[in-house]
Amino acid sequence: MPIEWAGLGPEMLLRLDRSAAEPLRVQLEREVREAIRSGRLGAGERLPSSRALAAELGISRGLVLECYSQLQAEGFLTSRSGSATRVAANALAPREMPARPLAAPRLAADFRPGVPDLTSFPRRDWSWAIRESCRTATPAHLGYGDPRGAERLRVVLAGYLRRVRGTVADPAQVVVCNGFAQGINLALHSLAARGIWRVAIEDPGDSDYLLICRQLGMEALPVEIDDHGIDVNALASSGARAVILTPTHQFPTGSALAPERRRALIAWANDRGGVIVEDDYDAEFRYDRAPVGALQGLAPDHVVLIGSTSKSLAPALRLGWIASPSVLLESITERKRISDRGSPTLEQLALATLIESGRYDKHLRQMRRVYGTRRDQLVDALSRHAPRIKLHGLAAGFHAVADLAPDADEHAIINQALDRSVGIYGMSSYRPSGRIGPPQLVLGFGNITQAAIEHGIEAIGDLLSRAPQRPQQSLVAKRTAVSAKQA
Ligand SMILES: Cc1ncc(COP(=O)(O)O)c(C=O)c1O
Repeated sequence: MPIEWAGLGPEMLLRLDRSAAEPLRVQLEREVREAIRSGRLGAGERLPSSRALAAELGISRGLVLECYSQLQAEGFLTSRSGSATRVAANALAPREMPARPLAAPRLAADFRPGVPDLTSFPRRDWSWAIRESCRTATPAHLGYGDPRGAERLRVVLAGYLRRVRGTVADPAQVVVCNGFAQGINLALHSLAARGIWRVAIEDPGDSDYLLICRQLGMEALPVEIDDHGIDVNALASSGARAVILTPTHQFPTGSALAPERRRALIAWANDRGGVIVEDDYDAEFRYDRAPVGALQGLAPDHVVLIGSTSKSLAPALRLGWIASPSVLLESITERKRISDRGSPTLEQLALATLIESGRYDKHLRQMRRVYGTRRDQLVDALSRHAPRIKLHGLAAGFHAVADLAPDADEHAIINQALDRSVGIYGMSSYRPSGRIGPPQLVLGFGNITQAAIEHGIEAIGDLLSRAPQRPQQSLVAKRTAVSAKQA
């Protein structure tokens, strides 16, 4: 009988068909992946040792080890040296993930990272720019235009990015898109069309990268980040042909990619024909010096730069841009055309007007001051209410990383803060590999008032001063902390 079934914990059956052309390793990987996706294997659940599973299935132990390490790289499994392999905490595929609440709970203080000050949106300037675009748009502007976007905006963006980010992009190579979210989808689709299916992502990093890669059927390979940015040697040995990076201000650790790593990364791209997708999400906000230039300016043939107005103006605008290498331009443009035939033109013209008029730069200057003040307020509140917390990643952007005591329970603290109507977000939700790291919080201070900072940090200081109880695993699972990316 060629088909064999074997157990993987109580009532779990894996099916291997020895007569099939498909290699046993691929079958095994698929079966374990499916067991996780279907919920038959739950988050945190322990898998049998490679020796035990190999014996039960009558296959070599090496094959099971290969399967475990592949699924670890994909973020389904996690293991620490000397301990059992387990299902990763965030292993669920997007369609099986619990639906995010439509509205975030109302909180007295919310340190959600990644949200700019929504009360500072330049309403007057934007309505002026929209009026201008309605007044000056030609009939042709109101038809189906170039899927890359309005030419005027592409020219303005190419000039702006050259001036402010040091990029080298011809307007013809700029594609306007609906924020970074659409930009990354278009870029990954075009990589897949060129046969690139293995994509490295930062760990810690934006948790959405993993979900987007999986949704497109790509293999996402988490690569560790340290104080100097991504480990380029680990990237080179991962087998990835593309990498998604936040080199200017790593999200969420806040580091900048060190000059020697930038050189090594570009050498990797040259040697392997690798593609770097540069997520240039908040470069405008650097407090101590001018922002580091974009990688794209150093290797325009290897870098797809994606930027957005979500941090500089507001996420609701859904406006972003791609500066594409020429080899990917055609497929990105065609994908954009098929997706939505182009981004809304009147808004594109309004953005061009805002930038050309100097009002965009003025707004950024003002916001740098606002965020700089909030950052000082956060540091001050922590020094008074929770002096043992060490903050880093403060040189840019509007979030910082807070180190908790090494034995602190990140989930418990988040849940206890939530009981006091304070939203805080743990680093573990940004670890796509499921790797267990030191307990840390990612504290956003973009969209929170001084009074709320004071109230929230006082509450956090108070609950940290009472040793938090480590909750049972099941309780943690039930109350999975409010995801940092909730609506
Ligand atoms: C790392 C990172 N990049 C980019 C973005 C911007 O995404 P979008 O332009 O789709 O709003 C975000 C938003 O939260 C982010 O966290």
